[in-house]
Amino acid sequence: MTFPQRRLRRLRRTEALRRIVAETTLSTDDLIAPIFIREGISEPQPIDSLPGVKQHTLDSAMTEIDELSQLGVQAVIFFGVPAEKDAEGSGAWDPQGIVQVALRLARERFGDSVVLISDLCVDEYTSHGHCGILDGKGSVDNDATLELYKKIAVAQADAGADIVAPSGMMDGQVAAIRAALDEADHTETVILAYAAKYASSFYGPFRDAVDVSIGDGGDRKGYQQDPRNGREAMEEIRSDLAEGADMVMVKPAMAYLDIILRTRLETDVPIVAYHVSGEYAMLKAAEANGWIDGPAAAVESLVAIKRAGADLIITYLARSIAESLSGFVPALPAPPKAIDAPTPELES
Ligand code: PBG
Repeated sequence: MTFPQRRLRRLRRTEALRRIVAETTLSTDDLIAPIFIREGISEPQPIDSLPGVKQHTLDSAMTEIDELSQLGVQAVIFFGVPAEKDAEGSGAWDPQGIVQVALRLARERFGDSVVLISDLCVDEYTSHGHCGILDGKGSVDNDATLELYKKIAVAQADAGADIVAPSGMMDGQVAAIRAALDEADHTETVILAYAAKYASSFYGPFRDAVDVSIGDGGDRKGYQQDPRNGREAMEEIRSDLAEGADMVMVKPAMAYLDIILRTRLETDVPIVAYHVSGEYAMLKAAEANGWIDGPAAAVESLVAIKRAGADLIITYLARSIAESLSGFVPALPAPPKAIDAPTPELES
C-alpha cells in the first residue's frame, strides 16, 4: 500500500521524469511577434515603456523578420505608425500606406516562408485615436466603420497578407470583411478575429508604441468588452465564428485565462491569445528592479497561457524566448558508461 500523500511527488523527482509527464510544451511555432513599422524614420526608435521593442524602419523590420525566422519564429503581426493621421484613418487602406508597403516588401523577400499577419484597424491612423469613424456625438459609428474595414482588408490582402486580424470590435466586422475579401477574389485570406477583446488598462505601452492617444480623454468602453463580463465574451466568440472567423483571439491573456479556457471548450478552431504590452512591461519592470527572475517568469507566463488552451501567442517576448528556447530544454545526463564499453568476449 502506498501512502496517498507520497504519490504525487514520485513523478517530480528528476528533471527527466518531469519532462516525460509535462502536459504543456512551448515551441517557437507557438509564437507570433508584433512588428511596429514607422513611416518616415531612418533609424529604429526605442519605445521607453516596452524595453527591447522598437519602432522599425522598413529596412530594420525586414532584418528583424529574417532573424526571427532563423530563430524559428515564422509568424509576425504588423502594426503601422503613419507619418500623418486624419479623421478617417485613410493611411490604413492607402496602397502606399506603411503596412501595405511593408507587406509587399516582406512577401517579396520571404515568399511563403513567413506568415504575414496585419492588424486591421484605424486607430493608429485616425487623428482622434478611435477605432472607427466618429458619429458627431463622440461615439464610433459601427456601420460606417465597417465600410472602412472592408477597404483595409482588401488593401492588406492585395499587398500580400496571409491573415488579416480585425481588432476594432465593431459588430459584424468579420462578416463584412469576409464578404469584401471574397468579392475581391481573396477567398484564401484568413481572418483572425480579435473576438474577445477587453477594454483593458494593459494596452498603455502599445499606445506609446503607435503614438496613439484617444482624443478628449476618451476610452474604448463603447466598443471593447467590459472586464467584468465572461458570458459576453462567449457571445463575441460565437458570433465571430458564425460570421466566418478562421481563428479567434482572446486579449489580454494573463488576466483572462478563464476566457481562454472557456473558448477552448467552445470551439476547435485555433485560439490565439495576445500577451499584451502592459503584461510585457510589468515583467520587464519587475525584472529590472531585481524583483523577479525575468526569463523564468516569461516562460511561466506563456506556458500558463498555453495550458489554459491557447494554440498561439502574440507576444513581445517572442524573440527572447526563441533565443533561449534552443538552450531551454535542459540536457539529459550522459548515458551510463557501460553502454559504450566494448562487449566482453564470450568464453567458449
Ligand atoms: C488596436 C489594437 C490595440 C492593441 C492591438 N491592436 C490597442 C487598443 O485597442 O487600444 C493593443 C496591443 C497591446 O497592448 O500590446 N489597433
